[in-house]
Amino acid sequence: MGTRMSASQDTLNKLLTLMEGSARFARDSVKRAAAEFGPAWEDDFAAMLQRFYGSDVALLDAVKGYGSFVMDSMRRQKRFEQDLSYPAKTYAEAAAEVYYNDDYMRRQYLPGLLLSHYLWTHHYQQIEYFKGFFLPWLQRQQVSEFAEVGVGTGIYSRLALQHLPELRGVGFDISPLSLEFTAAHVASFGFAGRYQARKQNVIDEPSAQRFRAVVCVEVLEHLEDPVALLKGLKGLCAPDGKLFVTAALNAAHADHIYLYSHPQQVLDQVETAGLHLEHCFFANAYAPAKPGLPVPSALAMVLTPKA
Ligand SMILES: C[S@@+](CC[C@H](N)C(=O)[O-])C[C@H]1O[C@@H](n2cnc3c(N)ncnc32)[C@H](O)[C@@H]1O
Repeated sequence: MGTRMSASQDTLNKLLTLMEGSARFARDSVKRAAAEFGPAWEDDFAAMLQRFYGSDVALLDAVKGYGSFVMDSMRRQKRFEQDLSYPAKTYAEAAAEVYYNDDYMRRQYLPGLLLSHYLWTHHYQQIEYFKGFFLPWLQRQQVSEFAEVGVGTGIYSRLALQHLPELRGVGFDISPLSLEFTAAHVASFGFAGRYQARKQNVIDEPSAQRFRAVVCVEVLEHLEDPVALLKGLKGLCAPDGKLFVTAALNAAHADHIYLYSHPQQVLDQVETAGLHLEHCFFANAYAPAKPGLPVPSALAMVLTPKA
């Protein structure tokens, strides 16, 4: 990290100290991300830690959750490198194991995922793409309301509310734990009055409401039929609206059941669902250890509904 001493750096130094005891390996990710993304990243990450994990006890729990989340992901990724497939699992099985599993969601999944958005290079690059290539359009068009589907940690909803002070949002998820976490995350920034968290599966129970901006980050690979979700997202979007949709590729996690090996597979589904690709961003998590070894990657797309 740089030489300036600020409140953000104090917070990140505290984080590094807490990582000493329970997630030592994660210290390098903090230093690498600080070097790569600079002071804006430091301020953004530290603000989230200060607001959402305000006490040392809460911050230590988050660090432990992140440590377990990374260890679990690495173990699954090693197996994936050999099998080149995700272990067979139905959506209902993944939902029971993860989305409705109170202990797993609170202790590991949600804090782990939230910290990964800042500490995994391709995750933070995806956030930069969202801030640089999606949110400015909402601002220019004076969009007043957005929807997010599969809110998880709520970070994308919170960033949208933070970027545009007049914006209101609705967050849909099937997991009461994700909804509770998201509501607390949004409230910790003072945005609760502009946001509603709704328990609703937009595939099975389409919403009558239409939004000019629809966000869905890292949900497609969680489904048996991602095209059904893409059609559900199209149904939520107003004819003159835009969508920000992402997919994780070659990334083994407890709840990833649909394997995307190549970005073109996602782009083909987008086409099938009646959506038009405006532009996209793609990044690998890291360089492969050996040529040909699959590495986790992120594809983020800005889409419009076809007539
Ligand atoms: C990996 S998280 C998504 C990441 C999240 N957008 C974030 O930025 O932190 C997956 C989320 O999708 C939710 N989910 C799974 N199936 C869903 C569905 N059919 N409709 C809405 N949410 C769903 C899960 O409950 C979980 O909260």
